[in-house]
Amino acid sequence: MSTPQAPAASPTDAGKPASSREVLAEARRRRTFAVISHPDAGKSTLTEALALHAKVISEAGAVHGKAGRKSTVSDWMEMEKARGISVSSTALQFNYSSPESGEPGADGDADIVNVINLVDTPGHSDFSEDTYRVLTAVDAAVMLIDAAKGLEPQTLKLFQVCRHRGIPVITVINKWDRPGRAPLELLDEIDERIGLTPTPLFWPVGIAGDFRGLLRRGTGDAAGEAVEYIRFTRTAGGAKIAPEENLSPDEALEREGDTWTEAAEEAELLSASGQDHDQEMFLAGQTSPVIFASAMLNFGVRQILDTLVALAPPPGARLDIADKPRNVDDAFSAVVFKVQAGMDTAHRDRLAFMRVVSGVFERGMVVTHAQTGKPFATKYALTVFGRERTTVENAYPGDVVGLVNATALAPGHTLYVEPKVEFPPIPSFAPEHFAILRAESASKYKQFRKAVDQLDSEGVVQILRNDIRGDASPVMAAVGPMQFEVVAARMKAEYNVDPKIEPLGYALARRTDPASEVELNRQRGVEVFTRSDGVLLALVSDKWRLQYIQKELPDLTLEPLVAAT
Ligand code: G4P
Repeated sequence: MSTPQAPAASPTDAGKPASSREVLAEARRRRTFAVISHPDAGKSTLTEALALHAKVISEAGAVHGKAGRKSTVSDWMEMEKARGISVSSTALQFNYSSPESGEPGADGDADIVNVINLVDTPGHSDFSEDTYRVLTAVDAAVMLIDAAKGLEPQTLKLFQVCRHRGIPVITVINKWDRPGRAPLELLDEIDERIGLTPTPLFWPVGIAGDFRGLLRRGTGDAAGEAVEYIRFTRTAGGAKIAPEENLSPDEALEREGDTWTEAAEEAELLSASGQDHDQEMFLAGQTSPVIFASAMLNFGVRQILDTLVALAPPPGARLDIADKPRNVDDAFSAVVFKVQAGMDTAHRDRLAFMRVVSGVFERGMVVTHAQTGKPFATKYALTVFGRERTTVENAYPGDVVGLVNATALAPGHTLYVEPKVEFPPIPSFAPEHFAILRAESASKYKQFRKAVDQLDSEGVVQILRNDIRGDASPVMAAVGPMQFEVVAARMKAEYNVDPKIEPLGYALARRTDPASEVELNRQRGVEVFTRSDGVLLALVSDKWRLQYIQKELPDLTLEPLVAAT
């Protein structure tokens, strides 16, 4: 590809010790990303297509089974099955040798085999908090858009999270094999609604519904020019990699006639409006390379992988709570971004997923848990993709490792090997749904209390308490009401308690302080609680009540919570 190579992790590794050189080289060949999309845009289909291209599976349908295909990998909970959604987040790692990375890179590496970490995100908007946490673990995102629907609410929300976290975004316009909108119109929408300049690398040949192939736009001196035509051939049911023919522009004209000319003209028009790839602007989150694809037919999937390899940033240094960088070749450190229990009904275990930030992870090594200062043994380290669990012996920056029965770990926690490091906590979402949680009977209270503490520390919901309500009926706060169902289902399955959940008539939460607490509790439609991290939250019945109080009692503290979207 004539697009620039992603910057190397370090310009010169020569003077560094061998261990450091090894980590730098491993980090440099890794790409860790997530797919963000509105449900039904084709995330599962694309995941499967990527796995197919990386030869992890031999036939589409093996990983994320859909109706009539093999069973899905992530149906770990009855609720998921019933609703047909994915609640769990898992990670898929595969090797990929891009034909493009055969060119010697900045450091003379040839034939680099890249390691791709695809971190799965839950599709349902009720789990946007989980998605937000997952996005703290990736270096890039693929924004998947349905060609007929354009930008949808969940895509927009997730895009805002990427922007907030400074994650560069590659846009994929999917389902080009069926009727959809005009390509330029879709780009305008991205530009106007989210202020991200789309810079297509590949332009579709054929309108939506008549997907013949991709025109590769030149970059650098050849910016905007049609440099190549990649013509795809359908395979039966899209189950195999679609064969590609690489044709010159002249051959393309001969083959496709006006359809090619039209595509070439549009591709040039884009340059006139400055929509050419610029690596710095992409990394700064101002532009987004665009690829048109059909995940179902496997058209454009190789181009997505090649673009990730060529442009997405490799794992880099991460700032700690004191804003000091932990470099990839420093001693081992990792951040926990997801804790999940009950993934495997046969095991009833609890897994903490960490992303390696620096150094080498070796299974069995003893690391320190920064939040408690306690040592933590890592004998049971796994990678998990759906039901597939594989023991991990080594992991490098950018990799995701699941630690078994890591009860002390919660999202945002740090693990390290000396020198000490602690990364900033993951901000929690502003909850919008509230419910009281009650034990079914006093005899089960001990179990109930244990379950509440456990689910709270995992971040399944936020748990709020105050003296008036007491410990037996804490309040759950969540971004989406489905989180309450997860709590109920898990309490039943894992703790054998059947809690009662009663909705609570509040709609907003604001951060407050002890000085405002008494006065706020006197107000109608307001109640103050303490969250388990010690933060005081005022729950308010509706926005009009909030506005009234803010106007009448302007001295009271009522700050909006950090909302990621
Ligand atoms: P999600 O994970 O983002 O929710 O989407 P998923 O992959 O489940 O895809 C949603 C639907 O869109 C599926 O159809 C899938 O087959 C279809 N789809 C995905 N990518 C493409 C594409 O590139 N082209 C076309 N034409 N369709 C695509 P379904 O009817 O819900 O399931 P199925 O019975 O077809 O498997």
